[in-house]
Amino acid sequence: MFTELTLPISRGRLRRACDEDLHDLVRHANNPKLIHWLVDAFPHPYTEAHGRAFLKRVAEDRSEEVFAIEIAGKLAGEIGLRPGQHERRFVCGIGYWLAEEFWGHGIMSEAVRVTTDHLLSDLGFVRIETDVYEPNVGSQRVLLKAGFQLESRRRKAVVKHGTIYDCLHFAKLRD
Ligand SMILES: CC(C)(COP(=O)(O)OP(=O)(O)OC[C@H]1O[C@@H](n2cnc3c(N)ncnc32)[C@H](O)[C@@H]1OP(=O)(O)O)[C@@H](O)C(=O)NCCC(=O)NCCS
Repeated sequence: MFTELTLPISRGRLRRACDEDLHDLVRHANNPKLIHWLVDAFPHPYTEAHGRAFLKRVAEDRSEEVFAIEIAGKLAGEIGLRPGQHERRFVCGIGYWLAEEFWGHGIMSEAVRVTTDHLLSDLGFVRIETDVYEPNVGSQRVLLKAGFQLESRRRKAVVKHGTIYDCLHFAKLRD
């Protein structure tokens, strides 16, 4: 498991998500502003049942791992990691969210940088990648600040809230 290790960040730490995160997970995730540019599969409203099922899946299904972003001892966000299989086993997908009350303090830029540096330097991955919908400029800034580069623009690739947008593909490679 990647997330057996705890990684320090300025405001707290990154650690494995666990059952005790349920209350904070539901409280933060049940926010329409948070999910605005996330994939449609992210549930809304976000109920306790969603949270419980998510934490169970994370504990049992090794195809996805989740770092909880812990601030002042409580879950404040998440970084999801999806390692590739077979010929893509050196590639890891990444996704993330931070609770609204913590936005704008550089927390996610640092958390994504620390996580991806660890994956590339210590865990043998060569490439970390993710997609961002064009209007999500905050997330694009996070990726650039964490060392990612914009690799491609898939034009008119997603529909969100009734409008069609481009989808931007970012990657960070081992030096
Ligand atoms: C996007 C998100 C992860 C940013 O987290 P954060 O901790 O607030 O980001 P940071 O404070 O590290 O900010 C990084 C940069 O983005 C900028 N930024 C952050 N949110 C922004 C916004 N909504 N609009 C414009 N710029 C924004 C910051 O000003 C900063 O840039 P700067 O250093 O040049 O000033 C957070 O808003 C979030 O979780 N959003 C909802 C979920 C989501 O969109 N996840 C990503 C899906 S691809």
